[in-house]
This record gives sequence, C-alpha cells and structure tokens, in this order.
Amino acid sequence: MVNVIFCGFGEGMDKRVIAKQGDLLLRVANNNGVVIPTDCKDGMCGSCAVKVEELTIDMSEAGAKSEVDPDGWDKNKYTTYMEDKELATLVEMGAISKIEAESAQQYAQQTPVRLACQCIIKGSILVKPFE
Ligand code: FES
Repeated sequence: MVNVIFCGFGEGMDKRVIAKQGDLLLRVANNNGVVIPTDCKDGMCGSCAVKVEELTIDMSEAGAKSEVDPDGWDKNKYTTYMEDKELATLVEMGAISKIEAESAQQYAQQTPVRLACQCIIKGSILVKPFE
C-alpha cells in the first residue's frame, strides 16, 4: 500500500488516500472523489494530465546505501515504465520536451507530468493539477 496525496484540485478534494501498488491513478482519484478531467481515457487527448512528484524517504538518512549507477539513475527511487503513446501525447501537448520523453524511455523513469488514465501507481506520490 502507498500514499497518494491530491493537492490543489479544489474544495474537498485535497486529501491523502491509501492506494494499492499497481492501481491506476485515475481510478484512485475517481474512487476518492477527486475530479480529474477526462475525455478519451486512452492516453490520446491529454485532458487528464497531472503533475506527479515522488514521495520518497532520503535513503542516506535511513542508513541505506544509495545505488546510483554511472548515468545518475538511483535504483532506490520509485520508477515506472511509460508507454510510447503517453509520452507522445505529453510531447504533443507541450507538457514535456522530446528530450525528456527520450530520457524517460531510456531509463524507464517517469516524467513530472503524467496522464492519470495511463499512470500506474508504483510508490507514494503527490499529485497536483497540470495547468
Ligand atoms: S483522458 Fe485522454 S489522455 Fe487521459
């Protein structure tokens, strides 16, 4: 189980909820009364774009050894694979650059803006509206 914090979605919708790893962000929002605009629900329109930040503990403070590889990718950080369709939509709507999309593909990392209808929850996150 992980924490999902919704912030900035309007009155009564800012809340912390517990979600299952592997659940879809849009479903978690809908099940908890948080309204995220949608149209296609298929990663094509971009209307469900949200900002997503990882909520991680500082592994160095926890006494754990960091596992940063030579490319600067910390294996202890929460990561999730993003489909080409989602990356293409985010680039097309100007939410991320083409370079950010290529980097996300290469290192299996997520971008700071996600499509809620495509975002599988893998760890605790903070979710804000994308404007
Ligand atoms: S609802 Fe269209 S991209 Fe998510």
